[in-house]
Amino acid sequence: MTSKTLFIVVCGAPLASRAGDGVRVAREHGWEPFVIPTDAAMPWLADQDLGDAPIITGNRAPNESKRAPRPDAVAVVPATFNTLNAWANGNAHTYPLTVLCAALGSRTRTVAVPFAKSDLAGHPAWLASLAVLRYAGVVISDPHDGAITSLRAVESGTGHHVAVDFRWEWVLNHLK
Ligand SMILES: Cc1cc2nc3c(=O)[nH]c(=O)nc-3n(C[C@H](O)[C@H](O)[C@H](O)COP(=O)(O)O)c2cc1C
Repeated sequence: MTSKTLFIVVCGAPLASRAGDGVRVAREHGWEPFVIPTDAAMPWLADQDLGDAPIITGNRAPNESKRAPRPDAVAVVPATFNTLNAWANGNAHTYPLTVLCAALGSRTRTVAVPFAKSDLAGHPAWLASLAVLRYAGVVISDPHDGAITSLRAVESGTGHHVAVDFRWEWVLNHLK
């Protein structure tokens, strides 16, 4: 079976602690994963086994060759309040955001798992951003159960537990 390229964009929230499982489960489903963390995600990645998956940070130098093939699909797990709003607004001021904006513009299959507490999720920009992304075809998957028709905010103090109970299979199944 020929592997297809999956970009796993990881933002700075507790679910970033499961990125290593994302690499493992993606491979089990026949994907070749590349990990693209935001700066804020890096502390969560420090002690994880990412299975030697390529980790791509920062913009490449102008004379540097491309570091990854075009992705067949993108998973944004977790998608923070900050990144999700910037992405929906077409803000590409970091490498992960450039990847996400390009995926949206090229209608590359994308699953996002938003991860925000209710005080952030109550901000009006959040709902507007989710609507923009859904309109453009992004599958929005609830971090609690993988549901795509509803999205619950993460209750304060439960982020670690939601991350532990999260199943990467939900994401890979949405990409079938
Ligand atoms: C311990 C910790 C937990 C955090 N949890 C969340 C979260 O659940 N959702 C969120 O949107 N931001 C959370 N943040 C804040 C983000 O990390 C912060 O907004 C950061 O700027 C996001 O950057 P990024 O979108 O580039 O990853 C958390 C920060 C810390 C230090």
